[in-house]
Amino acid sequence: MNKMMPNTAPPILVDPFQRRIEYLRVSVTDKCDLRCTYCLPQGFTDFDTPDHWLSFEEIERIVRAFAQLGVRRVRLTGGEPLVRKNMPELAGRLAAIQGIEDLSLSTNAVQLARHAEALRRGGITRLNVSLDSLNDERFAAITGGKLSKVLNGLAAARAAGFHPIKINTVVMRGINDDEIEQIVDYCIENDFTLRLIETMPVGETGRHASEHYVDLQEIKKRLEQRFDLIPGVMPGGGPARYFHVNGTDLRIGFITPISQHFCATCNRVRLAADGTLFLCLGQEDSVDLRTPLRSGATDAELQQLIVSAIARKPERHEFRERPQHVLRFMAKTGG
Ligand code: 5AD
Ligand code: SF4
Repeated sequence: MNKMMPNTAPPILVDPFQRRIEYLRVSVTDKCDLRCTYCLPQGFTDFDTPDHWLSFEEIERIVRAFAQLGVRRVRLTGGEPLVRKNMPELAGRLAAIQGIEDLSLSTNAVQLARHAEALRRGGITRLNVSLDSLNDERFAAITGGKLSKVLNGLAAARAAGFHPIKINTVVMRGINDDEIEQIVDYCIENDFTLRLIETMPVGETGRHASEHYVDLQEIKKRLEQRFDLIPGVMPGGGPARYFHVNGTDLRIGFITPISQHFCATCNRVRLAADGTLFLCLGQEDSVDLRTPLRSGATDAELQQLIVSAIARKPERHEFRERPQHVLRFMAKTGG
């Protein structure tokens, strides 16, 4: 062994429950150009002001600190991340950070047609797009927006070479649960991956939407009457349990935070737009990184703050036991 090489393993973040934290979700704004019923209240405008948002430089510093602590994957989220200007520039900055191997984006795709190519050039490789209905009226009722914009955005993303493109569908009884087979067909035709999601009681809106909660085991049984679902894995798969639809290229992931929670394998934390680091989607535990950052914390101090934050990561959410518990809606934390 080379005597000059220090015999220490590179640092990694491990929480008190022996979970390795290697994934950071970065919300760039809590603003959104849609009002999905399960996320933002109708007519909501009480967003954080842009001077509270971390600047691109600040985000870059925090992501670099995480990368030095072994984080390998970053996802940009919101609110709606494309509401913020110059996202391709931010993507470029983050993609260039040593250690970051995977940079992805979650979007509602309303403005994606305009930005897809620049984002791809900026270094984003994978996209998650929310799509809860393929029916114009229904889509408008759920989100307050126009379906055609989203479909155009998806077409542009495909043309720009994003792969995989994952479609996220929150399944709601009496709202879109009768449409899942059609969404499956649409994803087969377009070579998208599909992820079905159970409604979570986050914020007042999420709790209200949870009245339409559907246990996805029920949807899976129903899909099995038409499709041959073969259990499989998806590289870097996250919380979804994936099935391959036999005879097609489609993979369907079931994200079941309520019926079968997956907290034991949680590998992530979430940075809100204002620099608050949330340690769990379903708990209020958080650490403010913006104040130390703006009062001159060194890189070492920043890393130390992150290490002590991870030491406080809760074991699990309590969506079933304490459905009233999470006060902030999803756009605040980054979905
Ligand atoms: N329950 C489940 N998923 C939600 N999202 C937002 N609010 C909720 C909720 N209450 C998810 C949706 C959307 C992403 C941005 O956040 O999947 O696609
Ligand atoms: Fe916007 Fe996403 Fe919330 Fe819908 S779920 S209102 S697209 S942040």
